[in-house]
Amino acid sequence: MTSPTTERKPIAIYGATGFTGGLIARELKRRGVDFLIAGRDRGKLEALSEELGDVPLTAVSVDDAAGLRRMLEGCSVVAACAGPFTLHGEPLVAAAAETGTHYLDTTGEQGFMRMVFDRYGARAAETGAALVSGMGFDFVPGDLLAALTADGMGPLEEIVVAYCVRGFKPTHGTALSGLEIMRDRGDDVVVLDNLTTGRKSNIDHALANGAKLVVEDIRDGELVASLLEAEKPEVVFHLAAQIDVRVSAARPSFDAEVNVIGTINMLEAARRAGARRFVYASTGGAIYGETDVVPTPEDTEIRSEAPYGQAKYAGEGYLSLWQRLHGLSTVSLRFGNVYGPRQDPLGEAGVIAIFCGKLLDGGRPQIFGDGRQTRDYVYVGDVVDANLRAAESDVTGAFNVGRGVQTSVIDIVEALAKQSENGFEADHLPARTGEVQHIALDPSRTKAELGWEAQVDLEQGLGRTLDSLR
Ligand SMILES: NC(=O)c1ccc[n+]([C@@H]2O[C@H](COP(=O)([O-])OP(=O)(O)OC[C@H]3O[C@@H](n4cnc5c(N)ncnc54)[C@H](O)[C@@H]3O)[C@@H](O)[C@H]2O)c1
Repeated sequence: MTSPTTERKPIAIYGATGFTGGLIARELKRRGVDFLIAGRDRGKLEALSEELGDVPLTAVSVDDAAGLRRMLEGCSVVAACAGPFTLHGEPLVAAAAETGTHYLDTTGEQGFMRMVFDRYGARAAETGAALVSGMGFDFVPGDLLAALTADGMGPLEEIVVAYCVRGFKPTHGTALSGLEIMRDRGDDVVVLDNLTTGRKSNIDHALANGAKLVVEDIRDGELVASLLEAEKPEVVFHLAAQIDVRVSAARPSFDAEVNVIGTINMLEAARRAGARRFVYASTGGAIYGETDVVPTPEDTEIRSEAPYGQAKYAGEGYLSLWQRLHGLSTVSLRFGNVYGPRQDPLGEAGVIAIFCGKLLDGGRPQIFGDGRQTRDYVYVGDVVDANLRAAESDVTGAFNVGRGVQTSVIDIVEALAKQSENGFEADHLPARTGEVQHIALDPSRTKAELGWEAQVDLEQGLGRTLDSLR
């Protein structure tokens, strides 16, 4: 497990007063990582510095090559967040390559950055600077920050290798639930993932057992169609998604591109390739929103509170349509809050993984609001079981995959405290707006029609998750 290091030189966030830069700055602050904020506008930097508690700042324009180099000489990494990068990226890359500072672009200007990286790659190799191109907002919470806060530069090197050798988008994560499906059964498996939040390392075991990883984007319909045409899968488990609710609120059309258009692309590719079955990872809580009936059955009125839930629900509609129009056999599984081994404790989602990470690091968990908000936590192994049963059956429509049990954030802290010798005290922070308060999914239909029922209770699941992180 990686953790923030105090010995490394600070991280520079260039363009820190912008949207992405501000997010990174606040997140690094929260994680106690040493960083400085930089950009052109001293006034804005001073305001941000004050807000963050006197974070060091450097006001320097990208036209000032010597000034950029002076700043980067004292830094380990520069996260480049100022746009438009077609104008600003190059001087920063040049300064990073010259000073041996790792460079992370967060704008997603892949084509342009590749050109610039080619130009400065030789110098960067001499000075030991990694040049990494990322994606915009969606890249920030998990991938970029995991890389920035990692001990040593391992993840960055991995990213760079991926980028240079295969032209991938930079790496990390590979669907927590998806990767579990492919383990242990010896199925012939092809994983399609663009590795934005996925980690290749999560599926090393499966890759070693003969699974194949194709790093591509489900938004590219023709590419997905030709891949499935070549592979002729019997079953398609569609789990690839933009899963961050806050990203969906900030960038609803991007969310829909991945979660709606991507789903249509997968459906159409599965149909053309003659797949027998299409199993879709949908969501429970994010689709239902705040409901009067908890645990909530599938026929409850849909009142999503964020574009993510709405997009997932739209995906379900397309599954039904492809079944009616084309006879493709489809099923939607509405997961509860999935947790388990290999979930990223540095991630934004997944309170259990985050709290387990804190427990093992001797940190304190943060509770937003009164901690009485509840979720239906379901262990990843049980979710895998639901997927496999859904693949083997021919039921159609939507099925809840939850335990039907409400667990509050306080319950989790207390359950984890029992597994620790040193106690586990939480910090309390103001409530986040727009959060659904109470979620539990009624699993009756899934039990009746798929014969599925969760087997792992919270205590067992927490124990297994902690063991995997130790
Ligand atoms: N984890 C949960 O609690 C939960 C709850 C409800 C539903 N789900 C659903 O389960 C599925 C898996 O979620 P997870 O928690 O394992 O998250 P995850 O982020 O680990 O998995 C999503 C995967 O999709 C990949 N991806 C993202 N955009 C892509 C694109 N454009 N093209 C190709 N691949 C792309 C990511 O790299 C990642 O590996 C998702 O569909 C999610 O909506 C998860």
